[in-house]
Amino acid sequence: MPQTVIAGNWKMNTTLAEAVALAQGVRKGLTGAGGAHLVLCPPFISLAAVQDAVRGSAIQTGAQNMHFEKSGAFTGEVSAAMLQGLCQYVILGHSERRQLFGETDTLINKKVQAAFQNDLKPILCVGETLEQREAGRAAALVAEQVRQGLNGVSNITGLVVAYEPVWAIGTGKAATPEIAAEIMDGAIGKTLQSMFGTASGQVPLLYGGSVNPGNAAGFAAQKCIHGALVGGASLRADQVLDIARLMAQAKGAG
Ligand code: PGA
Repeated sequence: MPQTVIAGNWKMNTTLAEAVALAQGVRKGLTGAGGAHLVLCPPFISLAAVQDAVRGSAIQTGAQNMHFEKSGAFTGEVSAAMLQGLCQYVILGHSERRQLFGETDTLINKKVQAAFQNDLKPILCVGETLEQREAGRAAALVAEQVRQGLNGVSNITGLVVAYEPVWAIGTGKAATPEIAAEIMDGAIGKTLQSMFGTASGQVPLLYGGSVNPGNAAGFAAQKCIHGALVGGASLRADQVLDIARLMAQAKGAG
């Protein structure tokens, strides 16, 4: 069974001092969240300090984005090579990047390939908008995002895939575990299986979108859901720890 992974996506929140305090808070409360693999994804500017704050613990770090080129004239961008040593994971293709910054599946695929080439574990995010769901296109669209995002990739060791329906992100309206499982077992799991065979069985599939301590166990009770990508609730140490503990317990790992 894949690892239980709880990743906290802090988005554009926390100053450097706030990021360090939050990371320290998570570290301090870690006992009891055993069994779940915690990944903190602060803004770029706080990655080094957060990494220092969690050093020697089981907590790992991730970036929220990166450029696919190694270096060059790309003002404001950060490359995979620059992230090496600062974090183990990188969130790619988050719906906010797709919607607000025009990221396409082709671009995201280049980033995924760059991440693998630089020993970073990509957390590939996929998910449909409300309009696409209502048009009955959710499953086909998500399958296509997985297919295109991983096009040309042969070794998926380290890959994590997060299903984040856009209509559930930051809205307080999480998908039901059944709705999430339908897409994750079907569109995502089956596509991974068809592309990568048995290796796909090791890929942690995370649900994301308004996850909180009240609904976390319900998601983890689904066989095909191995963890969560948490936005808002990850800005509170107690909440992200509760989510990790509850999900680890539900998975029988805590
Ligand atoms: P949310 O965000 O938990 O605040 O809905 C999830 C995400 O965007 O990763």
